[in-house]
Amino acid sequence: MPAPDGVPARLAALKMLDAILRRGQTMDNAAQHARDLAPADKALASAIVGEALRRLPDLDALIDSATRLPLAHDAKARMVLRLALAQKIGLGTPDHALVATALPLVDGGPRRLVHGVLGTLLRRGLPPIDAPRLPEPVEARWREAWGEDVVAAARRAIARRPLLDLSFAHDEQAQAYAGGVSLASRHKRIASSSVAALDGYGEGGWWVQDLASSLPARLVPAGATRVLDACAAPGGKTMQLAAAGHEVTALDRSESRLARLAANMARTGLSATAVVADAAEWAPDAPFDAVLLDAPCSATGTFRRHPEVLYRAHPAIIEQSAEFQARLLARAADWVGPGGSLVYAVCSLEPQEGEERIDAFLAERPDYSIEPTSPLLDGVTPHPRGWLRILPGMLEAQGGLDGFFAAHLVRTA
Ligand SMILES: C[S@@+](CC[C@H](N)C(=O)[O-])C[C@H]1O[C@@H](n2cnc3c(N)ncnc32)[C@H](O)[C@@H]1O
Repeated sequence: MPAPDGVPARLAALKMLDAILRRGQTMDNAAQHARDLAPADKALASAIVGEALRRLPDLDALIDSATRLPLAHDAKARMVLRLALAQKIGLGTPDHALVATALPLVDGGPRRLVHGVLGTLLRRGLPPIDAPRLPEPVEARWREAWGEDVVAAARRAIARRPLLDLSFAHDEQAQAYAGGVSLASRHKRIASSSVAALDGYGEGGWWVQDLASSLPARLVPAGATRVLDACAAPGGKTMQLAAAGHEVTALDRSESRLARLAANMARTGLSATAVVADAAEWAPDAPFDAVLLDAPCSATGTFRRHPEVLYRAHPAIIEQSAEFQARLLARAADWVGPGGSLVYAVCSLEPQEGEERIDAFLAERPDYSIEPTSPLLDGVTPHPRGWLRILPGMLEAQGGLDGFFAAHLVRTA
């Protein structure tokens, strides 16, 4: 018998949530569970999982308030209930559709329990949860690093999908683009989430890039001729650097991600020399005028678009990342000529991957010093130490920013 309408999307969502929470998969990898669905169902499955991950601790508290014995964290009944409640709160799905699509997922299992809990909670009425709690270890870490106000801002930020930021090769193109708000040169912020449907996608005048993520490439001095983008794919920053007129070498160890970079460059009509190599092994023939090291990291700064990072970035992963970043920084420092620039960036909200990396680097490399960053965005003041630290709550009224860290280092000898 075919499954009732809407059940295949919920079944895929259940498998995806399980893959993310129990097996630590990324949303992109987990989405393979939805690969056989029609595009609309695929999008629905991802949307349901996203809404559940945005509010997981609060959804769990609701579930616990309606059961006599707490369900195990990874119990199927809890997973199904999380998805059903997330649909109600995040997507406004009607009660009858929630129940009709949740119960088949627990056929032959805890059907009565799920039915009972859902019934109790729906009768009580669900709160909107518009400033959901983050996972407790993340809140504790960020409270210690950044304070209570930043945690409160992160709670407000995770509740909603961020607006779309477009980067343009030239400011005239940004100004000529109809609609949206410009918060920086070569930038427009758009209230839409469908990229391909936007004007000018085919013509390649712009690319999607969170405004915070566009800041590090803006630190590369205009006078630098030969520039290395050391962890370049899929190429957001490579496109900025090429559009600014630098001669760019784009290095990445992932061939498939570099293929995406090549497609992005072709679409936008920009050019760079691509190199597939491991930055921990590779060395250039001659020093560069500037190196941009957008290092692989825990990516916790992207939690608004990828709430699953908060469940993947355990302290051990952050520590491993920080060790690798230290290695890459040490190598990249040798690829810069005297007087040249090294811009280090991570889309992370963990001080170990940002501030602490730079302090440790400067202690090892007296031939480098920090070049204080000039203000790049109204409402974002560079840190007194000279670097840029982007936190939840910054530009909140305009739609916020991803968490980011960027430092401009200059080789003095
Ligand atoms: C943060 S992403 C870069 C995003 C990119 N800069 C942009 O703006 O579109 C980090 C990149 O580092 C690459 N990477 C990870 N380890 C690497 C290594 N050892 N050598 C070179 N690239 C590496 C990954 O494949 C990934 O594409």
